[in-house]
Amino acid sequence: MKKSDVVSAILSERQTALPRHSSAQAFAPSNIALCKYWGKRDQELNLPVTSSFSISLGNKGATTELSLSDQDRVYLNDEKINLESAFGKRLLAFLNLFRVNHDLHFVIKTQTNIPVGAGLASSACGFASLTRALNNLFGWELQEHELSIFARLGSGSACRSLWQGFVEWHAGLQENGMDSYGERIAAEWPELRIGLLILSEKEKKISSRDAMQRTVTTSPLYSAWPAKVSHDLSKLKQAVQSKDFILLGETAESNAMTMHATMLSAWPTVCYFLPETISAMQVIWKLREEGLMIFFTQDAGPNLKLLFLEKDRDAVQKYFPGIEVVDPYCKSKNA
Ligand code: DP6
Repeated sequence: MKKSDVVSAILSERQTALPRHSSAQAFAPSNIALCKYWGKRDQELNLPVTSSFSISLGNKGATTELSLSDQDRVYLNDEKINLESAFGKRLLAFLNLFRVNHDLHFVIKTQTNIPVGAGLASSACGFASLTRALNNLFGWELQEHELSIFARLGSGSACRSLWQGFVEWHAGLQENGMDSYGERIAAEWPELRIGLLILSEKEKKISSRDAMQRTVTTSPLYSAWPAKVSHDLSKLKQAVQSKDFILLGETAESNAMTMHATMLSAWPTVCYFLPETISAMQVIWKLREEGLMIFFTQDAGPNLKLLFLEKDRDAVQKYFPGIEVVDPYCKSKNA
């Protein structure tokens, strides 16, 4: 099944309708997985092997402004993107799914307030905000789960980036992925904080897309991953419902370490740890031994995301003065 088939199935007769407006814009928050998406059952449609579970980054994310034009142009943080680059091509391929005719061109201007390509889910909020902007421009009035499916076609984790708070991405079973989308979990946890510990802003050497595929095909540990995920998912849901922070933190940290263990056992090895990453982990483990409840998670990059409660903010900032503290529930424009 192709991406264009999914788009046709969802838009049906709306697919040939011209945009209702000449410009539109939308914001989408970045998201951090507490139970990771790592491995695809369908690479074309970004269908995952397992479900996953995330928390939003409040007002940290991407704002995309979309307008009609006579020529395609893309700007990321005011920088013009070469449409022949890998990123430019990926974006154009996504836009082509929604182009009603050959004369319809777009100018896309995306502004992010998180480091791009440093494992902080910039592609997730980028594709999610572009999806919402397209929905506004065309006036499709799609349902939230349909928007999530469109965002997934751009990048898997983007399907969790449409809302604030906790989101579960249901893996789904169908071949066309119509049952594979993000769903907001109705639970508030205003005391929860995420600390962004940026250890390097350099672009990663291997993309999460390539790294996860290499892991699936070469890691002897990957077969243990789905069982680990279903165990962690139920623990996370329990933790959120009962506001059990230790259960949340332990589960998220253990899930991230298990994901990295599958990467370390891939061949050639995928290693996103820098010496600074390991040093920071050791500080966190020591602080925990001393009674400070702080946990971490790590994605496809060397940076850590710290998990703690507002009451411990000062103590955490004493040891990690450089962190940016994010309130996942911080209200923003359209979330
Ligand atoms: C480690 O969503 O970037 O951040 O679907 O190929 O675009 P594609 O991959 P992507 O992978 C994210 C991987 C992760 C874990 C997660 O966010 O769940």
